[in-house]
Amino acid sequence: MGQEVVAAQGISKSYNSVVALDAVSFTVRPSEVYVFIGPNGAGKSTLFNIIAGVMKPTSGSIRVLGGSPFDPSTRLKISYLPATPPLYPWLTVMENVDFYASLYGFNRNTVRQEAKWLFEKLGVQELATKLSSKLSTGQMKLASIILSLAIEAELLILDEPTTALDPAMRRSVLELLRKKVSNRVTILMATHLVDEAEGLANRVAIIDKGKLIAEGSAEELKKLYAPPAVLVIKPVPEQVENASAVLKSRWGNVYSCNGEVRVHTDDPDEDLPKTILILGEKGVRVLSVSVVKPTLEDVFLKLTGRRLEE
Ligand SMILES: Nc1ncnc2c1ncn2[C@@H]1O[C@H](COP(=O)(O)OP(=O)(O)O)[C@@H](O)[C@H]1O
Ligand SMILES: [Mg+2]
Repeated sequence: MGQEVVAAQGISKSYNSVVALDAVSFTVRPSEVYVFIGPNGAGKSTLFNIIAGVMKPTSGSIRVLGGSPFDPSTRLKISYLPATPPLYPWLTVMENVDFYASLYGFNRNTVRQEAKWLFEKLGVQELATKLSSKLSTGQMKLASIILSLAIEAELLILDEPTTALDPAMRRSVLELLRKKVSNRVTILMATHLVDEAEGLANRVAIIDKGKLIAEGSAEELKKLYAPPAVLVIKPVPEQVENASAVLKSRWGNVYSCNGEVRVHTDDPDEDLPKTILILGEKGVRVLSVSVVKPTLEDVFLKLTGRRLEE
């Protein structure tokens, strides 16, 4: 049956005394969208550098598309978008496309054609002839996304592809990625945005402090680690910590997160009025309360006690 696209076994990486990756093992199957979520510093970029053959692990074994990622013939089957865009500053964006096409030994016109289609799809045709050094951070990111998608690779590795993009552009890029998925490319992506992971991934790996701490579909992870419902309480900003402390004295799973307090509950109908009552008794002013379905953020909160997003 189908060979694994990535097979990582016990990958560890240290930078002097810093352990960036600690015995990470996972496999990615053909045509899968496999998304790593984890906070800054979790080890995502280090892992991707190893899978893309840019950096050797300190220990562990890694196979990509049946070969070693450090073998040039394997690297030609991988399109890698690192966190820092890899554009040559003294070339225009389209000249960068040409350059990468020749590096991969692809037909220049075919790759150009695909790039043109991508520029149009994202509505940024004007970027094609711009000198890369003259691009803003967001434009640079877009240009490098186009570059990495224009190359017809078997494995697409995207390290936080949508950071520095505005929400509308983020949606367009995610739409393009969904289209790639239907083209049967295998995608490995890192993000710290849970909605991106939920919208795209077949499977999600949660990585924290260099360790892979959970893996599965978003639904599976939520079933395992999140409750049926979450109460989201928004107190006045100066009372978030106080509200959290008050609720923690009554409920086990209470987390403060982005100016809100999230209470994990099995019984929202019973717990919602109780929380409002207790907060009222303790003089906490509440701006809004709602009951929502859990997200992968709640999975991360449950597993680590910390929040994922900044
Ligand atoms: N070149 C490097 N030299 C030393 N430490 C590094 C280097 N690159 C990353 N690190 C450290 O390794 C850890 C993982 O970083 P990174 O892989 O960039 O995580 P992420 O991409 O999830 O934010 C962090 O503690 C980071 O500071
Ligand atoms: Mg990173």
